[in-house]
Amino acid sequence: MYDQRVKKLRDALLEKGIDSLLISNFYNILYLTGFKTLTKDEREAFVLVTKNKIYLFSDERYVTKNFQFPPDSIGIQFRLIEPQKGLISHLRDILKDEQIKILGFEAEDLRFYEYQKLRETLKNVEPFPTSKLIVKIREIKDAEEIVCIQKACEIGDQCLTEITKTIKLETTEKEVAFKIEMWLREKGYNLAFDPIVAIDSNSAVAHYNTKDGQGSVKVGSVILVDFGVKYKDYLSDITRMIFFGQPADEVRRTYDILLEGQEKTIEKLANFDSLKDADNFCRKLITENRLPNYPHSTGHGVGLEIHEYPKVSFNSPDRKILNQVFTIEPGVYFPGKMGMRIEDTVVIGKDLKAEILTKFPKVPLII
Ligand code: GLY
Ligand code: MN
Repeated sequence: MYDQRVKKLRDALLEKGIDSLLISNFYNILYLTGFKTLTKDEREAFVLVTKNKIYLFSDERYVTKNFQFPPDSIGIQFRLIEPQKGLISHLRDILKDEQIKILGFEAEDLRFYEYQKLRETLKNVEPFPTSKLIVKIREIKDAEEIVCIQKACEIGDQCLTEITKTIKLETTEKEVAFKIEMWLREKGYNLAFDPIVAIDSNSAVAHYNTKDGQGSVKVGSVILVDFGVKYKDYLSDITRMIFFGQPADEVRRTYDILLEGQEKTIEKLANFDSLKDADNFCRKLITENRLPNYPHSTGHGVGLEIHEYPKVSFNSPDRKILNQVFTIEPGVYFPGKMGMRIEDTVVIGKDLKAEILTKFPKVPLII
């Protein structure tokens, strides 16, 4: 698995004529090596991939001086970062030994001061910006990844089934979010991101911040629940609408149009090659029914991160490819009144059709 991923990266480097790549991104390091640090932004590990070798740099908070990767790992060589010998001196030695002239780096991730330091201290190599090399490899999931995402979706469905039973008059947005988290944590799972639970006018804000919110359930409330599960580092993403009491005709009509648009888009994915066509198709179905356009993309890739490739947006260059995992999540928002979104996580499977992984029913849930 990891060796296949590194091989794909080496092929991409070869194609670009780059000798080596310094990887600073937390998720890309995890993806290529399985090595995970406690924080994702504090630069606790780096990886260097060269033509024949892979080096992992970290410090004694994670590994001891004599740390060895198991023999069946992909031959990663560990280099300890310590006060006497920091990342730069390790790099200097390795680049010299391997006669590397071009050092690729992740332009979306390396910070400007880190780039300056590389330039100033590694005189004989040219730092070379690369863009999206690993995230584009991550876009196509392997079998192990799909199993984890599938499981995350299943857990999310079970969680939602249980949590919706606890919603009563005056239940607050924060309580619902907290119960989702507690349900997951008690079973040893985690949240993929802070849940969005938005009631009535709050649901008109696509990325409503539940932590700062004050909403609570009233008779006739429209409740939007958007959350995901993290299972073995892989995520799911689902949004469902819940109605507290019979929805008004206009609300029900809006829901039905939105649901039809979402379901038809998933079905139609079988015919689309370009994901921007799926975005256009979905928007058109909704706006043709005199509902407002939504201010976000129709979907996004899901994997180790909640927003990754491919993008399902109006200007996305991404094509539909076997084993991509992404969401389809159109919405309808009436500022100051209410909003709705319906979201599933899907995988592109056999015959390049989309298979829905989040199976919680979409017939409107009226409680
Ligand atoms: N479900 C949260 C998001 O897609 O941004
Ligand atoms: Mn989403």
